[in-house]
Amino acid sequence: MVERAEGSYLIDEEGRRYLDGVSSLWCNVHGHRHAGIDAAVSEQLDKVAHSTMLGLSHPGAANLAARLIGLAPDGLSRVFYSESGSTAVEIALKMAFQYQQQRGGQHTRRTSFVHLRDSYHGDTIGSVSVGGIDLFHSAYRPLLFSTHAAEPGDAADLERILNLHEEEIAAVIVEPLVQGAAGMLTHPPGYLRAVRELCDRYGVLLICDEVATGFGRTGTMFACEQEHVSPDLLCLAKGLTGGYLPLAATLATERIYEGFLGAYEEWRTFFHGHTYTGNPLACAAALANLDAFEDERTLERLRPKIELLQELLGDVGVMPEVAEIRSRGFMVGIDLGEHDPALRLGHQVTLEARKRGAIIRPLGDVVILMPPLSISEAELRSLVEITAKSIEAVGFATRVLARDTLAA
Ligand SMILES: Cc1ncc(COP(=O)(O)O)c(C=O)c1O
Repeated sequence: MVERAEGSYLIDEEGRRYLDGVSSLWCNVHGHRHAGIDAAVSEQLDKVAHSTMLGLSHPGAANLAARLIGLAPDGLSRVFYSESGSTAVEIALKMAFQYQQQRGGQHTRRTSFVHLRDSYHGDTIGSVSVGGIDLFHSAYRPLLFSTHAAEPGDAADLERILNLHEEEIAAVIVEPLVQGAAGMLTHPPGYLRAVRELCDRYGVLLICDEVATGFGRTGTMFACEQEHVSPDLLCLAKGLTGGYLPLAATLATERIYEGFLGAYEEWRTFFHGHTYTGNPLACAAALANLDAFEDERTLERLRPKIELLQELLGDVGVMPEVAEIRSRGFMVGIDLGEHDPALRLGHQVTLEARKRGAIIRPLGDVVILMPPLSISEAELRSLVEITAKSIEAVGFATRVLARDTLAA
């Protein structure tokens, strides 16, 4: 029961402190109880907590849109708000589909999408349709629209699919550089650039889902920057408010925006709007989050911490319990290898970590570390040490169990 938090720590009802090793589900950026974000939200409370963005707007939403456009890869010039990563993706899919429909002619045949195997884009039906993780997605197959799955990191496979189905594809959707929920599956350098070039060659849109990778996680503000890629649609959520409040944004190019213009009775409007879309408190938190990136030189100060993390992980990687470590920036997956799922090794490690003062959450038998960007070097050392000790303890217990079973 988390009752309070400060900086990199969560505090339970008994006052016990735990390092927030996964940034409260990958979204906290500058730590908890950040003075600037706290103040921005309470100042906004003195003005208005919520008013609809359907037919109206508010200064925070407009300012935030301008700031996001300034930070995002070139070519993205329009912002559509919602509340979660899943809705940011739903919106991108619907926009891509409707855009192709409204282009008319042969483009109306572009009703399908390409996604990557093992991809994760959220839990709503559209985002599940472009998802590729059987454990989360297979139960819903009958409800999903059909898509094409390409092999992650393999540009030739994407080209094969585009070649075969070129005329029916509206867009390709990818998590750039790192597929988070797949267990921090990293793509080879140059892959994202190749995906962009293939999309251009085959005339399909590129949707980059930076819900997990955005806001500094891979070392740059957005992962796309590292391969000089500008998508046609960009999905943002999680770290957008520094991990404070639910807010998401789908950014689009002017070309896509213009595809929705017309006389009212032509019905080219993007008919999509959630009640709490662009909530003013959330926009205030997001603006303060972007201020903190500037004022605290977050990305610059992150660089040596990424190097330290790599160094610390070097020792974890050689542990006999660890099969592989995959990481980019502050996104880390410590893979414990293939085991009987009933052993729930990843889960056991998180329980051990909890005893030792850290909250982490695994993906199967991949132990995930994704600390707030503001974590101190000493806290980072402590987080990795707790994780290593927890893995060691679970490894020891598993060996004892195996020996006893054999003896019996
Ligand atoms: C890449 C990616 N897209 C979308 C989502 C869904 O975000 P939300 O949980 O806010 O709906 C996630 C969540 O982990 C994600 O990692």
